[in-house]
Amino acid sequence: GADDDLVLSVIGCGYLGAVHAASMVALGHTVVGIDVDRAKITGLGRARPPLYEPRLAELLSDGLGSGRLRFTTDPAAAHGATVHFLCVGTPQQPGGAAADLRHLDAAVTALLPYLKPGDLVVGKSTVPVGTAARLRARIRSVEPAAELAWNPEFLREGHAVADTLAPDRIVYGVPGGPAGIAAADLLNRIYAKAVADGTPVISTDYATAELTKAAANAFLATKISFINAMADLCDATGGDVVRLADALGHDRRIGRQFLGAGLGFGGGCLPKDIRAFLARAEELGAGASLAFLREVDAINLHRRARLVELALAACGGAPAGKRIAVLGAAFKPGSDDIRDSPALEVAERLASVGADVVITDPRALDRVVETRPHLAVACTLDEAIGGAELILLLTEWPEYVELDPVALREVVDRAVIIDGRNALDPARWRAAGWSYRALGRGGS
Ligand code: UGA
Repeated sequence: GADDDLVLSVIGCGYLGAVHAASMVALGHTVVGIDVDRAKITGLGRARPPLYEPRLAELLSDGLGSGRLRFTTDPAAAHGATVHFLCVGTPQQPGGAAADLRHLDAAVTALLPYLKPGDLVVGKSTVPVGTAARLRARIRSVEPAAELAWNPEFLREGHAVADTLAPDRIVYGVPGGPAGIAAADLLNRIYAKAVADGTPVISTDYATAELTKAAANAFLATKISFINAMADLCDATGGDVVRLADALGHDRRIGRQFLGAGLGFGGGCLPKDIRAFLARAEELGAGASLAFLREVDAINLHRRARLVELALAACGGAPAGKRIAVLGAAFKPGSDDIRDSPALEVAERLASVGADVVITDPRALDRVVETRPHLAVACTLDEAIGGAELILLLTEWPEYVELDPVALREVVDRAVIIDGRNALDPARWRAAGWSYRALGRGGS
């Protein structure tokens, strides 16, 4: 109810922070979003999100209109808030595997002068286990009556608003004793709507909360690499990995989700998170226990090489000048994010050996043009496909999955398609006269 509305600051207004700030306003709170990036703050103040995300622009615009949401570059604005969410990025260290905590430490440094007794700082960024305890000591050396909680975020791009408003579970890492209970109570007030809806809340120690996030992403990455390893076995034996995944998925202990074999995982989270987790385990002397993550990473990266091999073989080993249409640049459908995008890496490698690569994507083309001016893009599917000798489906956007193979035959030079996401029906494409190839459908 209105009595329980809180004033919050959200420090770091990138993807995570922008979604969190707008969602907390939707839950009834008053929020100030703070970021050092002036362009980002100006955009958000005009309801323009830093990345495409369904419902986010609308939520921002409602929040700004209500007067309960504002954005600023001034850290002093945190002074008016009692709960401060740390939402800055923790990227992979340049040239290393570990997480780069520079932004996180800078955010805490900026916040420290404005903390008051009774304030709660809440970490949401993905961090190496041990970070919360270290930050708590920093915070309490300046304001001994402030507290810290760790509340990892599990949202998926493309579902970020829904995942924030109605999460599968809520995890708090808090210190022991009354201080920890008070911190958990305050977080329960913030998430009162989800808690009332029966969302499971796991209140635990810092290390467990930090580990939950790292373990969740490690598990998901492992599941994907597992099915991709099975795809190689299918290629070696004439099996079909899609049917295999269906059959495995009916076992409720396994489940069908994240058994999508193909080009593997990319994006701003899974690849860097498994590397950072392994690097942290090594620091802790537990590297051997996570050595399998190195294999998970290697299997995943090998998918890209395999796809390139398939494409080169489809070009008869002579890619120079061959027109290749690449469908998809985003790291997954429903997103305009191209960070560590498998699709883009395949496109780049083929272009670098002289193929005439043209990339199209419903959302991510602007980012491709900004960051890879040497790559050719086509704004429409027709333009990308016209005259192609090879089509690569690398991001399974619904509009690509629903393409009509009969109509498409008319506009290409050679009807050859490589389905990098196992998203198409091979029988249908073959019946329409296509040479259909994929990773893990050796017998289809
Ligand atoms: C991931 C996790 O799913 C979130 O729970 C987590 O909060 C987030 O990282 C994060 O740490 O912030 P996200 O990166 O948005 O979310 O994307 P996913 O939907 O997990 O997909 C990751 C990659 O795996 C994509 O490249 C996707 O194409 C690939 N993937 C996914 C597969 O190759 N096969 C599958 O079956 C599923």
